[in-house]
Amino acid sequence: MDVMLGGGIPVKNQVVLAGGPGTGKTLIAFEYLYNGAKNGEVGMFFSFNEDTEIFLSNVKDSLSGFTDINKLIEDKTLIIYGYEETKTFMQKGTESANYAFTSMISQLQSRMDDYHASRVAIDSLSYLRLYTKDLFEYRNLSTSLLTILNRQNVTSILTSEYDESTPLQYQQEFFIYDGFMLLCRDAQNRVYGSRFEIKKMRGTKHDLGSVSYELSSNGATIFSAEF
Ligand SMILES: Nc1ncnc2c1ncn2[C@@H]1O[C@H](COP(=O)(O)OP(=O)(O)OP(=O)(O)O)[C@@H](O)[C@H]1O
Ligand SMILES: [Mg+2]
Repeated sequence: MDVMLGGGIPVKNQVVLAGGPGTGKTLIAFEYLYNGAKNGEVGMFFSFNEDTEIFLSNVKDSLSGFTDINKLIEDKTLIIYGYEETKTFMQKGTESANYAFTSMISQLQSRMDDYHASRVAIDSLSYLRLYTKDLFEYRNLSTSLLTILNRQNVTSILTSEYDESTPLQYQQEFFIYDGFMLLCRDAQNRVYGSRFEIKKMRGTKHDLGSVSYELSSNGATIFSAEF
């Protein structure tokens, strides 16, 4: 995937990784942090739907080739905030949803400050959307989140469910981000049918078109030419 991007996600880009259920969004976002952590870049994963213990057990089962996850966590180059913690980020303000989001965003910011994060994963925007009353409120939240990520000078992957039945031009909330990558599962669920596509990536001359990808215990691989 890095080759397709001409060397990886450009530093300080905030990128959406969208796809249907089970297409590998969480694992690929984790792999992105893991690869950075191996180079000493602090990665922070914020999960809004799984407790840390369950999250880590799934990730270690799925990515069994990544044998040093525990060490990176001990060294605090890989930091995981599961739902048991992220849910408390929003509970400070009960009076209004707006206040809760302001609180959540400042909690995210202070965690990134504490650990000098370089890479961040937010999993997922769809869960944040569930906490908002309407699309307008969600767009406000997204804009504030993006402002904070930019201000922290981090590079991030924000995962999102993707509705293939709605044309992309009507899912405009994605286009405030620097990049948009899409994972699609083939309708028949064929082994070689899953597709990865970079719709946009500011600051790169990325490959156009979709390629097939595979998830394995050693992470995601692109394994065929464009079709
Ligand atoms: N080692 C592996 N090799 C191949 N496929 C795997 C492996 N580990 C997990 N998978 C597959 O990866 C998928 C889960 O990946 P992941 O949790 O990242 O998806 P997701 O897009 O985040 O899903 P959700 O929409 O539920 O959040 C499942 O379909 C699972 O079968
Ligand atoms: Mg997921």
